[in-house]
Amino acid sequence: MQTPILAGNWKMNKTPAEAVAFFEAFCAVHPARRDRSLWFFPPAISFAAARDSVRDRPDILLGVQNVHWERAGAFTGETSAVMAAAAGARLALVGHSERRHVFGETDAETGRKAAAAIAAQLLPILCVGETLEQRRAGTLEDVLVRQLDAGLAALAGDPTATLVLAYEPVWAIGTGVTATPADASEAHGLLRDRLTRRFGSASVAVPILYGGSVSPDNAGALLAARHVDGLLVGGASLDPGGFARIAAAAAAPD
Ligand code: PGA
Repeated sequence: MQTPILAGNWKMNKTPAEAVAFFEAFCAVHPARRDRSLWFFPPAISFAAARDSVRDRPDILLGVQNVHWERAGAFTGETSAVMAAAAGARLALVGHSERRHVFGETDAETGRKAAAAIAAQLLPILCVGETLEQRRAGTLEDVLVRQLDAGLAALAGDPTATLVLAYEPVWAIGTGVTATPADASEAHGLLRDRLTRRFGSASVAVPILYGGSVSPDNAGALLAARHVDGLLVGGASLDPGGFARIAAAAAAPD
């Protein structure tokens, strides 16, 4: 098992001052430890404040929640991967379900964003996941494979050293309904199989995170589930004490 990754996606929450206050409180209760990686995705406007707050914490990496695939230009409201990297980002979420379902982002656009992130030396976290209708229709594997393959289509060569996946069932995001550890294992296993079929044994290097209503109470069981390499946490990452409990969740051997 790799070092578990505990990631907080703040979505459209926290002003710069609130980001600073979060890290003051979080760092006070969660000293750096070598046996896990902590990632945070603040909103772009609070990125610099977050970056300055974690200067002395090399165990904490920061990313952006979205990037545009072009380097620069007439794309009002967008941030390029190159700009995010220049500002100190190491990571970028791509294809989060809110980007896909609220903002209409397509599989093809998601792939271009992943490619742009890699080109800018950011580690893309490619998010995939099925809706409740798709799950009920028995198309879980089809949906995950389609989203994964579309994301990979834009990437040149073997991306296994430069990619992270996140499985986030749409029905579990922000709903309080969590996938069971068995649900997470099943979906992660499908993704793992697909990666292995495409890239062979090198694909074990690609971590697969679970996201969707993770809380301090269920984090340990989800992290212990087979094929789960880390957690991508939305709502429960906003509270420093709660996220510190998630960050301390023990991982059982795989
Ligand atoms: P949630 O969000 O933990 O609030 O369900 C997870 C995510 O969207 O990354």
